[in-house]
Amino acid sequence: MKVALTGIKPTGVPHIGNYVGAIRPALELAKTCKARYFIADYHALNACKDPEEIRKMTLEIAAAWLACGLNPEKVLFYKQSLVPQTFELMVILMAFTPKGLMNRAHAYKAMVQANLESGKDSDDGVNMGLYTYPVLMAADILLFDTDYVPVGSDQFQHIEMAQDIAQSFNYNYGKEYLKIPQAIAREETKTLLGLDGRKMSKSYGNTIPMFASEEELYKLVMRIKTNSQTVEEPKDPETCTIFAIYRNFATPDQTESLRRRYLAGGMSWKEAKEELFNVLNAHLTPLRERYNELISQPDDIKRILEEGSARARELAAKKIKELRQVIGVD
Ligand code: TRP
Repeated sequence: MKVALTGIKPTGVPHIGNYVGAIRPALELAKTCKARYFIADYHALNACKDPEEIRKMTLEIAAAWLACGLNPEKVLFYKQSLVPQTFELMVILMAFTPKGLMNRAHAYKAMVQANLESGKDSDDGVNMGLYTYPVLMAADILLFDTDYVPVGSDQFQHIEMAQDIAQSFNYNYGKEYLKIPQAIAREETKTLLGLDGRKMSKSYGNTIPMFASEEELYKLVMRIKTNSQTVEEPKDPETCTIFAIYRNFATPDQTESLRRRYLAGGMSWKEAKEELFNVLNAHLTPLRERYNELISQPDDIKRILEEGSARARELAAKKIKELRQVIGVD
């Protein structure tokens, strides 16, 4: 069985775009792979220095994945910070990472660019954690002999860097000690549209949070922006935000039937929104209930992550022992 691994940034409660684009496909992949999914809390430290915030966001994101159906008996579910071998591997990989490679990383380059445009020093506000982020990510991945890394396209460059670093290590020691990982692209069509018709994203403030209460969910759905077509007019499902969200939660039959109602005319936007609300609410209600139960028992979530991390440490310790021999520090 192939190994699938991905890191989850602790960003608090996800929205339905994260669910459709990241959580659901990762859980689907876990059915056919050995999955290792972890909370990337040390990655979060680069940007967030508030301990309470990190604790809260970690619990919320862990509860969210569990509520969406992650089974910790089947998926190795752990916290990066509880697997210290990650950081040992990072130090090893540092010696195989050209500084020039880090200079080319998109996230770093974007910050430098923004600094220069606003007349600041080019490295203003850039910490070494941010600069070396791709090496930590390579360590996350290479530590577990990962075959597949399901990620969004914004992460492809990081996966390529992990491949480069692994190849450089392997070339030096003459054998494939580090498995070369492959990125698995999320389908771009799975990018959900937000309330205003732009991509659903926290930074646009146009999201539908996964576990919004029924009343909140209703209000948000009613806020989705539509055009000014009259009830009678036939409507185009392909350019409609309501339909775009609907098809990700409805059965193929439901989707077909709503498509026909759009094309036939005689359906108001309000009715379309009611249909969307019904399907969304039916899908999300059991998840919301599980989430609320989990988040009220933070000790259970912590225990799950601790148990997963203990198993992850066993695997990681074996790998590090082997690598220590390879490099001559055994
Ligand atoms: N950088 C990833 C993100 O921003 C999170 C991440 C950290 C990750 N380590 C990883 C993803 C390892 C895949 C593999 O979403």
